Amino acid sequence: MFRFVLILALLGGSRANPTSDIDDILKEYPNSVVEFSEFNDGDLTVPELIEKYGYPVETHHVINSDGYILELHRIPYGKNQNSTIKRQVAYLQHGLLCSSADWVIAGPGKGLAYLLADAGYDVWLGNARGNVYSRRHVTLDPDSDAKKFWDFSWHEIGTVDVPAMIDFALEHTGQSKLFHIGHSQGTTTFYVMCSERPEYNDKIIAHFSLAPIAFMKHMTSPLLQIVSIFPGGLEAALKVIGMNEFLPNDGLLSNVSEAWCDKSILQSVCTNAIFVLCGFNKAQMNTTLLPVILKHTPAGAASKQVIHYIQEIKSGFFRQYDYGLIKNIKIYNKFSPPNYKLANIDAPIYMFNSKNDWMSAEVDVNRLYNELPNVQGKFLVTDPKWNHLDFIWGIQAPELLYNKVISLMSDL
Ligand SMILES: *[C@@H]1O[C@H](CO)[C@@H](O)[C@H](O)[C@H]1NC(C)=O
Ligand SMILES: *[C@@H]1O[C@H](CO)[C@@H](O)[C@H](O)[C@H]1NC(C)=O
Ligand SMILES: *[C@@H]1O[C@H](CO)[C@@H](O)[C@H](O)[C@H]1NC(C)=O
Repeated sequence: MFRFVLILALLGGSRANPTSDIDDILKEYPNSVVEFSEFNDGDLTVPELIEKYGYPVETHHVINSDGYILELHRIPYGKNQNSTIKRQVAYLQHGLLCSSADWVIAGPGKGLAYLLADAGYDVWLGNARGNVYSRRHVTLDPDSDAKKFWDFSWHEIGTVDVPAMIDFALEHTGQSKLFHIGHSQGTTTFYVMCSERPEYNDKIIAHFSLAPIAFMKHMTSPLLQIVSIFPGGLEAALKVIGMNEFLPNDGLLSNVSEAWCDKSILQSVCTNAIFVLCGFNKAQMNTTLLPVILKHTPAGAASKQVIHYIQEIKSGFFRQYDYGLIKNIKIYNKFSPPNYKLANIDAPIYMFNSKNDWMSAEVDVNRLYNELPNVQGKFLVTDPKWNHLDFIWGIQAPELLYNKVISLMSDL
């Protein structure tokens, strides 16, 4: 039996910028022990979770042109719905270190995948190469061939993986277009796809960008900030975040967590890579789900994905991976990597961002908004403390965010 005891060992500490609500949390949750029992969602895979909650579920595998075996999860229709009716496809793409679990962890009535299925959509959940569901390759082993297996960034996810999964979903359903919804890196890979392979714009009814990430100059995530100024350069940074697979060492995570967490809240949150990257907003966190989230994330990524983002922070550009002068000339025929051509992205886009997002800073989102040719709407989540992970797990995500997405979709 699964039993999880959360001990909220509270010490103190706050982070000046951006506003952290740790001080509020301390007031609100004095030394307390929260006990969970018989809630085993953390031990179930995504298909098992969907089945547990009474929804139809399918698992599909796609081998992409680089040989990675990608796993797609599908909720073809809602609970107790007529399976013979033809539905529009909603394709959902997760963020960095995450997986298809993002969209179902909150459960029926709350998780976006369930809300879309119940609203009449055929829901497909992608998994990028390297995460727990797509950690497979036709010839390479992720551990013994680590150098080759993990040699990719979100550039490859955007140009190869997402197109392959979209094509599979369209072919399987006999449709020619779908809705694409991305969170965080799931928006980056959308922008990469549509700029580098512009023919994919025609396969998109509309894209919904939750916490959009393209330009990163103003992001305030302490982990990325610290790694980006790491003394000793790239080689030294790779030693602490992992040479191939992103596996930051505990020393780094606890050092960084001191900058914002200071051993407060819960040690396993403070040192979990996903929260160290994105922060923690107690007000929107359902504590019953926390142990489930900690089991499902981090779900795996390549260090090169993180390095590519760090390059964006330093350069201020949204552009391809920087291999250094000599290799850049060989690969791109230029000293510096080429920018992604935002002008190519003419699929209709709706953007959702927030004021307290460590990864997706408002100025960076505004710049992206100004450079994209076909943004149909841009919405700021009304909660000023809404952070990067609240877009997927926030208690109020349905009313502050998802209902709007679904109502926009129903008009298209
Ligand atoms: C499902 O929809 C089809 C087509 O509209 C209809 O023929 C069938 O009777 C429906 N089945 C149920 C169980 O409602
Ligand atoms: C963590 O901090 C300690 C003390 O400041 C330092 O000695 C150590 O090298 C740091 N570790 C990492 C991985 O940054
Ligand atoms: C928290 O999650 C549990 C388990 O899914 C659910 O029963 C409960 O209603 C949620 N609470 C809130 C405030 O959303």
